[in-house]
Amino acid sequence: MTETLYQSDISSLPLIGRGKVRENYAVGDDKLLIVTSDRLSAFDVVMSEAIPKKGQVLNRMSNFWFRKLESIVANHLTGIEPESVVSERERSQVQGRAVVAKRLKPIMLEAVVRGYLAGSGWKEYQATGSICGIRLPSGLRNAERLPEPIFTPARKAALGEHDENVDFETISKEIGASLAEKIRSISLQLYRAASDYAATRGILIADTKFEFGLDDQGELVLMDEVLTADSSRFWPVEGYAPGANPPSFDKQFVRDYLESVPGWMKTAPPPRLPPEIVAKTSAKYCEALERLTC
Ligand SMILES: Nc1ncnc2c1ncn2[C@@H]1O[C@H](COP(=O)(O)OP(=O)(O)O)[C@@H](O)[C@H]1O
Ligand SMILES: [Mg+2]
Repeated sequence: MTETLYQSDISSLPLIGRGKVRENYAVGDDKLLIVTSDRLSAFDVVMSEAIPKKGQVLNRMSNFWFRKLESIVANHLTGIEPESVVSERERSQVQGRAVVAKRLKPIMLEAVVRGYLAGSGWKEYQATGSICGIRLPSGLRNAERLPEPIFTPARKAALGEHDENVDFETISKEIGASLAEKIRSISLQLYRAASDYAATRGILIADTKFEFGLDDQGELVLMDEVLTADSSRFWPVEGYAPGANPPSFDKQFVRDYLESVPGWMKTAPPPRLPPEIVAKTSAKYCEALERLTC
């Protein structure tokens, strides 16, 4: 594997945008080069340290799921080699960590599916007994498995802000009822297929987030990253017990560290991550990839 990459700088292509973790460049007028850096964001704040191997791991994980789930919904991958769309001296920046994707019209919605109570879902349930307007049985504990997976959409926030949970009615008004229903149905199917598979590999997918776009025919296409440790909450099955915050792979680990930093208000600038946290996090990402794909 190549060295870490905190931020890509591909000058042979027009930069369209930098997200928290990825840079997007235009490839012609209908495709994107999406480069996954080694940046890590937690609580929507980007950390200052690069996490070795993280970009390549996420890219492989996403591509693994895109392929595995392609019978459920079309995805944005083109199969074009990223190395072929950049200059020779830029190739090391994309190796193993980039894709050439169809450029879609993004649907401004985070299609969240939850199989277990956690994070903002747990908070909302404690306050209201519901998540995104979906009434849940009373007496559920933190990390408890839900009677069935639920679709709990969120509005994508601007950089540095938090996504906002919204109910299905609101989403239907914003994007149209039939599109909203299609996204809900596909998201639930994707979650079920992925979580059934992951369970055979010792990983519980507590929740995850999908993003969709429309192609130039108006067809719904799965985009962005899929079922990575960044877009999902993965729990190792062996540490799972409802009632407590399960020990987890990946980001939850950094989150727990950050929660222990006195006085940090979850806004930029972030605290520095100690080298052992960086190393352990890198190892966690690799372990999740191995468990799921090897
Ligand atoms: N095929 C695609 N077409 C258009 N936009 C896409 C596509 N795939 C991903 N995106 C967008 O590219 C960005 C990826 O960068 P990322 O670092 O994940 O950003 P964010 O901070 O918004 O999560 C996201 O805004 C995502 O919606
Ligand atoms: Mg993203």
